[in-house]
Order: sequence, then structure tokens, then C-alpha cells
Amino acid sequence: MSATKAAKQYFTTNLLKWHYEENSRDLPWKNQKDPYKIWLSEVILQQTRAEQGRPYYEKFIQHYPNIHLLANAPEAEVFLLWQGLGYYNRCRNLLATANYISQNLKGNFPNNYDDIRALKGVGDYTAAAIASFAFDLPYAVVDGNVYRVLARYFGIDLAVDSNSGKIHFKELAAELLDKHHPADYNQAIMDFGAGVCKPKNPICEECNLSAKCVAYRQNMVAMLPVKTKKLTIKQRYFHYLILEVGELIYLQQRLAKDIWQQLHEFYLIEGEEPFASDNKLWQTIVPFVEQKGERIFHSSQKLTHQVITSDFYEIKLHAIPPQLQTGIWIQKHLIKNYAFPKTIVSFFERKKYF
Ligand code: ADE
Repeated sequence: MSATKAAKQYFTTNLLKWHYEENSRDLPWKNQKDPYKIWLSEVILQQTRAEQGRPYYEKFIQHYPNIHLLANAPEAEVFLLWQGLGYYNRCRNLLATANYISQNLKGNFPNNYDDIRALKGVGDYTAAAIASFAFDLPYAVVDGNVYRVLARYFGIDLAVDSNSGKIHFKELAAELLDKHHPADYNQAIMDFGAGVCKPKNPICEECNLSAKCVAYRQNMVAMLPVKTKKLTIKQRYFHYLILEVGELIYLQQRLAKDIWQQLHEFYLIEGEEPFASDNKLWQTIVPFVEQKGERIFHSSQKLTHQVITSDFYEIKLHAIPPQLQTGIWIQKHLIKNYAFPKTIVSFFERKKYF
């Protein structure tokens, strides 16, 4: 057996040993065999930490114990349950896939990798997770956690965001998978990456892979994994106008094909910079308002590729402006029936709207 083969064997054996003997991470979807519940948990966990996703998973299972109930649920209700998780495309795909399986497949979840991978909102990672957890199929999960664990243990300095890097890590991950215990192996590497081989402050002293971990032995843990591309971050300025006529408040549904599509919001002007204080300029931007609104809330939200600075202006109007054709005017107390982007929810919470 070559040294590399021995190192690979050591990796798989000791990762599983850690999982069976030491992994105490308790999550509600663990050891689950129902593909519906596994799929639901994995979609929630895309771009969301397990601890944050857990209450959402529990709420969804409580409301919709099976796929038919989710498929038949009113869309607005599902969006409201999803509120706070962000990346709403996941919620749209969740509903589309639930409908497809409920109606076209009579509720029977696909049971092979290719059909699982073809579902809307299911990428390589999620397909491998569902195939292994629900059907014990030998597909290895590969995500940021896996890149990190493998890059460190094997001392790989190939960039994880390069094509050659991706291919290399994918092939290595497939080789390392314990084909007889794919579900345990995949769960083990996810939990190991989240709890031991963490991005910052990994617990190398307690790690039972450290004896053969190249990064640990060569003092390179903090340098791996390697990424080539620098993230470019876009600055965006949102100016929300809270238009009120007596007890009525104006809302519009977001139609742009972005992460907030279908959610509700106030009248929005997106600018290149904060509003100028000049009243005249304000009037050219908001022609149906005579004077500048009062800024009552300010917030900043950092997403992966953008930072959004939001200013909220309260504007009390005497009558409904005829120019505003696209939105709806609702009684303020009914606001809780609508789903909103996170920034607006924090505004409601801080201002005690709910
Ligand atoms: N992240 C994505 N899927 C996960 C799972 N099944 N357990 C823990 N973390 C996860």
C-alpha cells in the first residue's frame, strides 16, 4: 500500500471512528430515512448554519409532515414560515419540487442520484446528501467544509475555486467515501468540518486525524484551503418610503428576479448613494411627495456579494397618490400576514410593528 493510499485509508477509518465514538452533535434530521424530511433539511441548510436552520426545519415538519401537505399549502403561508432564512429562491424551488413530486410522482421521492439531481433547487451537494442519507447510495458530499478538511489533511494547495481544484477535490472525496456506510461517512465529514476542523480556531489538539494531517504537521492549518478569486462586494443603497394614509400603509411585491422575489416591501428607490438632503432633489425622485420624509430607521446588511444600506423614511400623506398603481394599501395591523426581506422584518421588530 503506497503512503498516499495508507493516508487515505487512515482518513476514512479515523473519521468514522470519531463519528461513532465522539461525535455528539445532535440534530433533528440525523439518522432520518424519510427522503422528504432529508430533502427539506438539506434545502434549509444550503447557505444556512445547522443551528440557525434547526427551528425552521422543526416548524416546517410540524406544519407539513409530508410532501402533499407542503405542495398544497398556500404559497404566502410557506413564504411566511421561510421568513428570516433569506435566499428565497430556495423557498420557490422547494414549492416547485414539492408540487412536482406530489402531482407527477404521486408523492414518491426519486430514489436514484440522477433523478434526485434533476429536481429544482438540488445541486451536486444536496443530491449526494439525499442519495446517501435516504437511499444509502455511494455519493460523497463536497462543499466548503469538505474542501477545508481535505485541503488541510492532505496538504493540498490547489485553489478550491479553480476548475482543476474542483475536479481534484471531487475525485478525492469520491475515493475517500466509505462505500458501505455512505450516510455515516457524509454525516461524519459535515459534522467534523463544522465542529473540529473549523475555518477559524480548529481544535487540532483534540483531533484524531492530526497524526497524519499534513497541514498540522507542517504548521499550515491557517493557510489552507486556498482560494484564488477575491470576492467583489457591491454597495447598494435602498431608500424605503413608508407611505401612510391614516391607518393604511403602502406595500408592493418585489418582482425583480433576485433573492427577494415575491416578498413584500415598502415603496423603494434604489440609489447609488444616500439621499441628498436637498428638498428639490427629493421631489424629483419622489414626485408625489411634497416634502422630504423623516428618516426613522437605518440599517446595514452584509450578504455574500453585496452590502445593503437601507434608510427608512416615514411619510404621512393626506390621500392615496394616483401615481401609485402597482402596490396595495393595507391596514397596518395586517402586516404580519405578509413575508418581507430580513431588513424590513428587523425594522418592524425594532419599531414594534408586530
Ligand atoms: N449541512 C448540510 N447538511 C447537513 C447535515 N445533514 N448535517 C449537518 N450539517 C449539514
